[in-house]
Amino acid sequence: MSKYLVTGGAGFIGSNLTEQLLTEPEAEITIVDDLSMGLKSNIPDSLRVTFIEHSITDHAFMSQLLVDGQFDYIVLLAAIASVADSVERPYETHQVNQEANLNIIETLRAKQIPFKKLFFSSSAAVYGELPEMPKREDQAVQPLTQYAVDKYATERAIINYSRLYDMPMVCVRFFNVYGPKQNPKSPYSGVLSIIMDSLMNDKPFTFFGDGSQTRDFVYVGDVISAIVGLLHTPAAKADVFNIANGKQTALMTVAKQLETLTGKHLNASFKPERAGDIHDSYADASKIDQFGFMIHTPLATGLAQYVDSV
Ligand code: UD1
Repeated sequence: MSKYLVTGGAGFIGSNLTEQLLTEPEAEITIVDDLSMGLKSNIPDSLRVTFIEHSITDHAFMSQLLVDGQFDYIVLLAAIASVADSVERPYETHQVNQEANLNIIETLRAKQIPFKKLFFSSSAAVYGELPEMPKREDQAVQPLTQYAVDKYATERAIINYSRLYDMPMVCVRFFNVYGPKQNPKSPYSGVLSIIMDSLMNDKPFTFFGDGSQTRDFVYVGDVISAIVGLLHTPAAKADVFNIANGKQTALMTVAKQLETLTGKHLNASFKPERAGDIHDSYADASKIDQFGFMIHTPLATGLAQYVDSV
């Protein structure tokens, strides 16, 4: 029987992960989420899931939970999850995205709490606007926003703790994750969830820029396979892996694909680019392939599955 702690477990990725973990016989999952972005309705209804509505920034609370919980696996997904949001709330971003996670790993170290693997979700945002493409994990970084600074700092802290204190911990850099359960309600939501919401509910959509910006859109099912694979691969530690599809797609192109798949017309207008946004981003997604568990669902397939789910 494995015990999991998932911070941010009511969110888009966390709730998809929880569903997958429940397929493991006898797995028990504890979710800590303050519902700032996640939804209670995302959390699967199961006696094996314990939901705690709380902020990870309560250090004393989180430390006690780690002492009491005896978790085998710890998955750190709770975050102010948007670059644009972090530009509005830089200090709060720091408290959530860095300090709270540092408290967790420091508690594990200082109190010598045993666990099998800790997973941290960093971001493609750490690469910034440097021109080299595709982005490889060993390239220089350029964190241009507080979001990127905090993701990178936490990544480094986790890799350093893992090395210096021999703790089994691993980081990934998510590119642009899309798929079922992504909440479109915030202006900071992932762009594909906003486009889908606009198409399905006849709402206007605004392109920030001309739609030529590119992203590496990765299906949430692929992300879940990566998380579960990394948790159960002891050799994956003190390291960071891109989680991406490895393909560069312009926002306008994917918007048109969604129009075709839904059979609806996007009511679009255009505004200037958002502060802190990068124009282009795509990954060399091959480093994680060394382990053999990563799936790379083609964009057309993933988009079709997404459309089917709504
Ligand atoms: C995304 C992730 C972030 C991750 C980063 C890695 C989300 C919400 N954020 O940020 O966690 O660290 O990738 O690079 O998934 N756009 C519009 N109209 C809208 C909303 C967005 O044109 O209504 C544009 C944005 O200006 C941007 C692009 O779509 O150019 C993608 O935006 P978004 O989905 O917010 O993702 P990132 O900013 O890439």
